[in-house]
Amino acid sequence: MPKTTASTATRPRVLTGDTPTGQLHLGHYVGSVRRRVELQASHECFFLLANMHAFTTRADRPQEIRRDTLEIVRDYLAMGIDPEQCSIFIQTEIPAIAELTYLFAMLLPFNRVMRNPTLKDEIQVKGLGETYSFGFPLYAVGQTADILAFRATSVPVGEDQVPHIELTREVARRFNQVYCGVSDQAEDAEHVALGGIFPVPHADVGPIGRLVGTDGKNKMSKSLGNAIFVTDDLKTIRKKIGGLFTGRQTMTEPGDISNALFDYVRAFIPDRARVEELERRYAAGDNIGDGHIKVEVAEAIDALLAPMRERRARYEGRDDRILEILRAGCTRANAVCEETLSLAKEAAGLRFFDRELRYR
Ligand code: TRP
Repeated sequence: MPKTTASTATRPRVLTGDTPTGQLHLGHYVGSVRRRVELQASHECFFLLANMHAFTTRADRPQEIRRDTLEIVRDYLAMGIDPEQCSIFIQTEIPAIAELTYLFAMLLPFNRVMRNPTLKDEIQVKGLGETYSFGFPLYAVGQTADILAFRATSVPVGEDQVPHIELTREVARRFNQVYCGVSDQAEDAEHVALGGIFPVPHADVGPIGRLVGTDGKNKMSKSLGNAIFVTDDLKTIRKKIGGLFTGRQTMTEPGDISNALFDYVRAFIPDRARVEELERRYAAGDNIGDGHIKVEVAEAIDALLAPMRERRARYEGRDDRILEILRAGCTRANAVCEETLSLAKEAAGLRFFDRELRYR
C-alpha cells in the first residue's frame, strides 16, 4: 500500500483518468497509460474512472456504465498500473469533486466553456446537434474539479484533452486570484508560494499524443471500430494490421514513412536501429514490402500485449478483488480531496462546519 508518510506526501502529485466507454485500446496505452506506468513509482499517482462523465451521453444506460467502470480497472492492471503504488478510484465516490464543480462553474463565463474545441468536436463527432444535456458541457467544468481537487501538478493525457487542461489552468489562476489574494501578475509557478490553494497544472502529453486507428485515418477509438484491444490475440492483430491501407503497390516503390503503417512501426517496434533501417529502406524502395512490415508490426504488438493478456486473465471474474482495489483508492482520494475542499471553502467563505467522510 502507498504510505502516507511525509516522504510520500512530497512526491509530486499526478491526476489523470478515463471515461468508461468499454475496453481500453492501444491508443490509450501509448497516449497516456504507458506514461502513468512510468510515473507511478516516483509520483503520487491518482487514476480516476470518470463514470459521471459517461452519463453525459448515456444517462439511460447506467448498468452498462457500471460494468464498463469495472472493466477499465482490469485493463489498467493488465497494462501495468500497480494498485500497490498508486490509487485507482471512482469519480462519483468523491463528493468533493461534485462540490468543487459547482463552485468552479461560478468562476467560468458560460461562453468560455462553450468555446472549448474538444467539446465542439465531440458535439460533431457524436452527432449531438442541439440535443445534448446541460450536463454535457458541465463535464468540462467537472474535469477541472477532478484535477484541482487533488492539487495535482501534472496531468498525463492525450492531445485531445489539452483544451480541458487549459480550462483547468484558468480556473486555478482565477480561484487563487479571487479567493487567495494572488496577484493577477503572478507567474503560474509562483501561485502556491504566494498563497494560492491550487498549483497551476500542466498537461503531460507524450511523444505520441494521438495514435491513428487501423483504418489509417481517424484517431484510434472503440466507437469507430479501428482499435486494437488488450485482449486481441496475434491472429486478430495480424488481421487488423493487415488491413491498413498504404496505397503502395510494389516493394521497389519509394514509400512515405509518414503513413499510418510507419506510425505503428515507430510506436511499437522497440529496437530503434531496426526502426531506422525500416524507414531508410522503405523511403528508398529498397526491396521491402508492406506485407513484411505489417507482419513485423503485428508481432511487436503481440509481444507487447502478451503479458497484458496474461495479467488481465488473472482478474477475470474477480469483481471482489477489483472492488477492494477501488475502495482503497477511493479512501486515499477522499483524504486528499476533503482537505482541498475544506481549504477552498475556507478561502471562499463557505466553511461553516467540518465533516468526516467514511465508507461503510
Ligand atoms: N475526459 C477524459 C477522457 O475522456 C477523462 C477524464 C475525466 C480526465 N477527468 C479527467 C482526464 C481528469 C484527465 C484528468 O479521456
